[in-house]
Amino acid sequence: MSIAIAIDGPAGAGKSTISKSAAKKLGFIYIDTGALYRTVGLAATRNNVEPVEGEAVNNLLNSIKVELTFNDKGEQVVLLDGEDVSGLIRTPEASMMASKISAIPEVRAYLLDLQRNMAKTDNVIMDGRDIGTVVLPDAEVKIFLTATPEARATRRYKELVEKGMDVKYEDILEDVKTRDYNDSHRDIAPLKQAEDAVLADTTEIDLEGSIDLIVSIIKEHM
Ligand code: DC
Repeated sequence: MSIAIAIDGPAGAGKSTISKSAAKKLGFIYIDTGALYRTVGLAATRNNVEPVEGEAVNNLLNSIKVELTFNDKGEQVVLLDGEDVSGLIRTPEASMMASKISAIPEVRAYLLDLQRNMAKTDNVIMDGRDIGTVVLPDAEVKIFLTATPEARATRRYKELVEKGMDVKYEDILEDVKTRDYNDSHRDIAPLKQAEDAVLADTTEIDLEGSIDLIVSIIKEHM
């Protein structure tokens, strides 16, 4: 039987960096489910489809192929109709589009089996918003990873500036708050802590400390 670890939390809490390192330390496969929503968002942008429930989005889902694979370094690669879009989905615009499109029930249903199938055969650490509540409700360990909006906006701001992007802190903070609101107020699979999830707040903890904290929670509960 494979082991599943669910890590959920708001945008910018460090889920992906922390989960990736923890997976490496534990020898698990890391799966970033946000990349799937981002990829559907990119497909909508490319096809001029508004991120609202309706026929246009349904037709889009029927016409695209989203795949999750891994390169020889073991890193996740997302394919949209066979094209590697892993880099293209990392812009603030793609984040906002993903947040909007992820509120559509048909989009969530479309990505559900893809996510569940990944956890069937391998030991995984899967991160997202609804992994512990909807995708893998029987996960062996569930963690809700969070930090204040200001701490998360500061981290994201630094990340984007390091990548050479011209962004303002105030805009990033506004984006973080808007996405928090969208992600936790949608009708279907909203962002919320599963009843049996362990809460980990990293506001005052640096990256190394956060990784150690998550690994120790996992080892303790596995
Ligand atoms: O984790 P991320 O920032 O890459 O996620 C992008 C968007 O996708 C986020 O605003 C909410 C959505 N998402 C979701 O609804 N459910 C998931 N399991 C993962 C992401």
